[in-house]
Amino acid sequence: MNGHDNNETVITPWEVKGKIDYERLIEQFGTQPLTDKLLRRISGGGQGLHLQLRRGLFFSHRDLDVVLDLYDRGTKFVLYTGRGPSGPVHIGHMVPWIFTRHLQEKFGVRLYFQMTDDEKFLISDETSLAQTRKFAFENALDLIALGFKPEDTFIIYDVQDIDLLYDVALEVAKRITYSTAKATFGFQDSTNLGWIFYPAVQAVPCFIHKKLTGENVPALIPAAIDQDPYWRVTRDIAPKLGYFKPAQIHCRFLPGLGVGGKMSASEPETSIFTTDPPEVVKRKVWNAFTGGKDTTAEQKKHGGDTDVCTVYQYFLYLFEVDDKKLEERMRRCRSGEVLCGDCKKDLVEKINSFLAEHQKKREKARNVVEKYHVKR
Ligand code: TYM
Repeated sequence: MNGHDNNETVITPWEVKGKIDYERLIEQFGTQPLTDKLLRRISGGGQGLHLQLRRGLFFSHRDLDVVLDLYDRGTKFVLYTGRGPSGPVHIGHMVPWIFTRHLQEKFGVRLYFQMTDDEKFLISDETSLAQTRKFAFENALDLIALGFKPEDTFIIYDVQDIDLLYDVALEVAKRITYSTAKATFGFQDSTNLGWIFYPAVQAVPCFIHKKLTGENVPALIPAAIDQDPYWRVTRDIAPKLGYFKPAQIHCRFLPGLGVGGKMSASEPETSIFTTDPPEVVKRKVWNAFTGGKDTTAEQKKHGGDTDVCTVYQYFLYLFEVDDKKLEERMRRCRSGEVLCGDCKKDLVEKINSFLAEHQKKREKARNVVEKYHVKR
């Protein structure tokens, strides 16, 4: 199972394309839907649900209930997520990171964050190790700018920290056959050896807490669903190595600004990078695909379609935290009271004011980034 199906929908850790039916993915990948009961448990009651939960952006999981049961009985967990540093960070990457920050604060737990400079080197013919290592450092600034604290956040740079990872990677690799890897990831005869070994490296942070502290606790991984194949193979071998199976909580993809597909760094004109200057954001948003009609007259008469509108999705995922205002925006669009230009203008303002702040924090992070580097 590698996420390919007949309608040319492809979801692998390295490629996402076609129309994504999230309900179907739950069946296809064998994950569990996030129930209301679990949502309430993860929110701890009281303050209401986090935006990404109440809007259904996180929709599926594996063993979240198990991790919460253990937590209630006194066994903490660690959070684990990461980034493949192939270029600058885009705002889609930040969707799971923002939620990770929320969980870290809520549960008072550690985060291990993996920078896969090895992965991004191996999968691209054009990319050099020097480039991915540089981006790993630059991308760490984005993570820190989101407010993660150094005492609880441990960044692992694969190439630099391979001595920390290698023995566990070997234990993992020895227990996964090529046939399983091929079926899970769709490897071909032409796939290079490094790429075939790489999933063992991405498994390691699920277990690293024990090596660093002596404590055996489960890892909970917030990420978009494209990373799921890695966890399928890791979950299979975890008990054989004496570890808990890693748990996951999966989010949907923030779409790109074009027609269909997720926001993806390989399509820069339809992605908003955290380093984009205001005029670039403006140009990209101005060219965005919306759910609007061809003419103003038609739009006023029939209204727009927020379901397919990328601009609306950006308000939903990140840039309109007030549910009432979001609902009002939807109503006004569908009734033809607002035109796409109005929404685009609002979105440009929201993104640019967010980025202005983020870019300042990102620069400040240069002074402290070393504090986050995992220590042995
Ligand atoms: P990468 O760099 O492709 O993506 C980083 C994180 O962002 C998520 N993501 C998105 N989320 C919402 N909308 C989008 N458009 C979007 N695009 C990407 C990804 O699911 C991921 O969570 N191999 C990994 C690096 C990695 C990792 C991990 C990720 C190593 N260990 C553990 C998650 C958890 C990668 O290349 O991610």
